Amino acid sequence: MSAARSRLIVALDVPDGESALALAGRLAGHVGMLKIGLELFVAEGPGIVRELRRRHPELDVFLDLKLHDIPNTMAGAIRSASSLGVRFITVHAGSGIAHLRACVEQAGDSTGILAVTVLTSQDEQACREAGHTRGPAELVKIRAQAAAQAGCAGLVCSGQELESLADVAPGLFRVVPGIRPAGADVGDQKRVMTPANAIAAGATHLVVGRPIRSASDPAAAATGIVNEIALALPN
Ligand code: C5P
Repeated sequence: MSAARSRLIVALDVPDGESALALAGRLAGHVGMLKIGLELFVAEGPGIVRELRRRHPELDVFLDLKLHDIPNTMAGAIRSASSLGVRFITVHAGSGIAHLRACVEQAGDSTGILAVTVLTSQDEQACREAGHTRGPAELVKIRAQAAAQAGCAGLVCSGQELESLADVAPGLFRVVPGIRPAGADVGDQKRVMTPANAIAAGATHLVVGRPIRSASDPAAAATGIVNEIALALPN
């Protein structure tokens, strides 16, 4: 079961440190990794990373900052973030190979750079509105290749693109948000998948926010998803 649990990343998308620590306390022992996103990091800064690591040394921390800037600035942010001992940090793959490489060079040995391919809230129409002539499927492939070339540890992509990525960068982690257990509210996500289908399609890690955070019993919701992952994992 610990193999299945280690694949589950919970998004601590809460406004303050107190709520984050309370949620982490309820989820410890039931999930593998805690994801700190922009909302919490902007409110609390690096102190919340240090405090979560102090209270829950068994849980990895994933800093989801989705950096997108000039290479020198991104590299500096990665240096600062990896000194906090986080397991993963995200950058936008659309920044380009030079940017991704600058980030990889500055990440410490125990911190992996994850390249966000296309946000799971973006569909064909959103890509067109952003000026792209290609849709999400093609963009994801191009950006996954760039991430592999730059030496990133993994990709963040929608479960729906996993199949088309089977031959692209096979050694990279595939971290998949937009996960919704059958019947769960989709919210603002567009390209969603169930936990079992995402694992069967090749996801190495699942990112789940609202289906766990908004549940009346978050630990029970997490355990339900871990059980689903365990059943879908190849033997
Ligand atoms: O609540 P929900 O399960 O939709 O949360 C998904 C989490 O994954 C959020 O923290 C969001 O920022 C993150 N994410 C995403 N799409 C990406 C990358 C990260 O939804 N492409």
